[in-house]
Amino acid sequence: MTSDILIIGGGVIGLAIAVELKLRGANVTVLCRDFNAAASHAAAGMLAPDAENISDPAMYDLCWRSRALYSDWTRKLEELTGLSTLYWPCGILAPVYEESGAGIKSTVASARESPAYWLDKTAIGQYQPGLSSEVVGGWWYPEDAQVDNRALARVLWAAAESLGVELKDGVTVEGLLQQQGKVLGVQTSAGVMRATHYVLATGAWANELLPLPVRPVKGQMVRLRVPDAVPELPLKRILFGENTYIVPRRNRTIIIGATSEDVGFTPHNTPAGIQKLLQQATRLYPQLQDYPIEEIWWGFRPATPDELPILGTSPCTNLTLAIGHYRNGILLAPITAALIADFISEQKSDPLLSHFNYSRFLAQTSTSTSMLTHSANFSNGHHAIVALDNSALTNLDSPLTIAGKTFKSRLMTGTGKYRSIEEMQQSIVASECQIVTVAVRRVQTKAPGHEGLAEALDWQKIWMLPNTAGCQTAEEAIRVARLGREMAKLLGQEDNNFVKLEVIPDPKYLLPDPIGTLQAAEQLVKEGFAVLPYINADPMLAKRLEEVGCATVMPLASPIGSGQGLKTTANIQIIIENSRIPVVVDAGIGAPSEAAQAMELGADALLINSAIALAKNPAAMARAMNLAAVAGRLAYLAGRMPIKDYASASSPLTGTISS
Ligand code: FAD
Ligand code: GLY
Repeated sequence: MTSDILIIGGGVIGLAIAVELKLRGANVTVLCRDFNAAASHAAAGMLAPDAENISDPAMYDLCWRSRALYSDWTRKLEELTGLSTLYWPCGILAPVYEESGAGIKSTVASARESPAYWLDKTAIGQYQPGLSSEVVGGWWYPEDAQVDNRALARVLWAAAESLGVELKDGVTVEGLLQQQGKVLGVQTSAGVMRATHYVLATGAWANELLPLPVRPVKGQMVRLRVPDAVPELPLKRILFGENTYIVPRRNRTIIIGATSEDVGFTPHNTPAGIQKLLQQATRLYPQLQDYPIEEIWWGFRPATPDELPILGTSPCTNLTLAIGHYRNGILLAPITAALIADFISEQKSDPLLSHFNYSRFLAQTSTSTSMLTHSANFSNGHHAIVALDNSALTNLDSPLTIAGKTFKSRLMTGTGKYRSIEEMQQSIVASECQIVTVAVRRVQTKAPGHEGLAEALDWQKIWMLPNTAGCQTAEEAIRVARLGREMAKLLGQEDNNFVKLEVIPDPKYLLPDPIGTLQAAEQLVKEGFAVLPYINADPMLAKRLEEVGCATVMPLASPIGSGQGLKTTANIQIIIENSRIPVVVDAGIGAPSEAAQAMELGADALLINSAIALAKNPAAMARAMNLAAVAGRLAYLAGRMPIKDYASASSPLTGTISS
């Protein structure tokens, strides 16, 4: 299937962009994993740049412009579909329990482009009867508004459908197929699909496809119904209180929101969450305590580290980003659609877009590059000399070659388990390694020690070996491998198709699954990856992996992280004897003597992480491992003397004087 523009994600952002592009004459397809799981259905629908107290000026500008578009935009959608969005410019009242001083002095907030009025206790009581007696005053934001976000999502879907946008719900995009800065297609649950241009609008799930810092922030919600016994709508404007908001709809429902929880994609409502919501809402507007509860639900806001969206260009020329709208995606839908459509269809880049470019998260790279010098400061204050004169080796050895790429160093290291990023950086320098493996999932989820990791190393000097640590099945590993490839590309390694394949279902012994590893390796090789599979030291499996086209095999010396040293010597020796691809001994090496021993056996390279990271002085241990790998290799090439049963004098006996 080919279309002009393929949009990944069918929340309000993806759909609004689809409608806008279609209206400008493009052929548009939208792929959506689950229409109903979108944050767009979970939201409260407030259009509230003022009440949300947005402090970033460019963001305020963006929000303000979007709110200004809302009335015409929803009218146009309603005309197209004959359906209502329940857009309601109802204003927002923001009551407070304590006078904070600062805002209360003026009646109109100065720096704002829209009016905001301070109401004292008497005035706010007249504006909105029934507020808690604890309320001492509050702000009135007359231009903030609301839309029924679920109705809006349905209207957008219907509008897109009626305009002829191809809409596919239940289709997951599993990976972007990209080459040299261009997306060539997307791998989906329904096969490969292609387009001229692609838009990423996958909300909180964005970093499943690109390593961008978008994370979910969960929000729980409650809906009440105004009892029939209450004839008039008791609330005619939104109440935006401290830690709660109450959104009355014209259809006599009342939305109460929302928690804000950093719990990843943990589903479900919780008693604690719902209790908190109800307590805060009934404190603010006590009569709610007798209203019937109609529904509770939750959703995931797409948050970025600076809480601003990511809009516009991406690392690929034909991929546009529209993600990370966090608390204001409903509000920002019309402006996002307009700016992104201008950008794609008319190559017009609104000056505001530059403020929201993804590259702001790569800004640390150049400074962190300088953190990696060619020498390492040991923690004892000594300046270590890390340049090793390898000239003695050059005549004897050829470089390590993996998938056509050559490396001088035969020691690979990792980034896990270090006590600090600095120790990790120093150790990697001291190890002189050229390949560093990085756990894609941990970088993606910013696991402890992995925050900022991608930016902490100089990827112009070090070849990234993305690994699939944490994957329990072949499918997971394939997905994470694709993500790893995107991560390497994003960090400037355009031609890096390497993946260290780990499929480990067993969390106790951390032993790799041979069948899952073989299955994933077959698929990844087909997709053009250079696969470096981590395996038990099983000569038969090693051979099969070689036959399916793996770039190396990586047998374990002993259980991962155990530091038990070489426990699988006999099998590793068989693997080495029979292998035509490099054998990299991985896992279990605890001391330089063991590293040297593995190299003396004829291993082509080593991967050592824990023994370095968990040493008292990791940089010194990294240097020792480097020397051991070099020594072991040189010893292997030099050919060791045969082992004899009996002693043999060191000095020749000939020429000695005997009595
Ligand atoms: P989503 O609506 O989450 O849609 C993303 C879509 O992409 C989903 O359908 C998903 O299935 C699909 N997808 C993901 N990955 C893939 C893939 N690999 N392949 C195919 N499809 C994929 N904003 C406001 O402006 N006002 C509010 O009052 C408000 N209140 C909120 C209250 C709560 C509790 C929450 C959670 C959010 C709230 N928001 C609010 C924020 C707003 O909901 C979001 O910013 C907005 O919905 C983001 O829209 P989106 O289209 O980017 O993402
Ligand atoms: N904008 C309201 C929320 O995210 O909860």
